[in-house]
Amino acid sequence: MGHPVLRRQARAVDNPRDPELRRLVNDMIETMIDANGAGLAAPQVHESVRVVVFQAPGERADPGLSAEEAFDHTADLTVLINPVIEVLSPAVEGGWEGCLSVPGLRGFVERPAHIRYSGIDLEGRTVSRVARGFHARVVQHECDHLDGILYPQRMRDLSKLIFESEARHLRAEEDEA
Ligand code: NI
Repeated sequence: MGHPVLRRQARAVDNPRDPELRRLVNDMIETMIDANGAGLAAPQVHESVRVVVFQAPGERADPGLSAEEAFDHTADLTVLINPVIEVLSPAVEGGWEGCLSVPGLRGFVERPAHIRYSGIDLEGRTVSRVARGFHARVVQHECDHLDGILYPQRMRDLSKLIFESEARHLRAEEDEA
């Protein structure tokens, strides 16, 4: 957070079949898995291009606050180039997010719960899907990186920006509620 590459508009990809792009995507996938993340955007590895990768199963409970929680890396992997998001319903949903570029923190972010996203893959084929819930959240979080936006900028209540190490207190409060 604070590096200029994370604050700028990333440029569109001209040639999805470029071998350099394939190398970048492989690097991104490796970084995402190492960091135990659900997704990653190219600016996070200091490449200002419109590429995101993510593994989002159709159904998943709120990612919650558990730093130890392992992400399911058997879920379908998507490489999305030049993504476009269309919000399908005005309803928003809150959920906790973390980000490799904002280490050690979690924040509660409200986002549209029902979207369509489209783009192309590494073969230049069109990808177009409708997503809800956690899947929709991951895609929006990653695509925000391409426009220089980190999740704290999407937060409405900064009292819900917390250290991962303190998340257990919130869990206890939620259990009491
Ligand atoms: Ni992120």
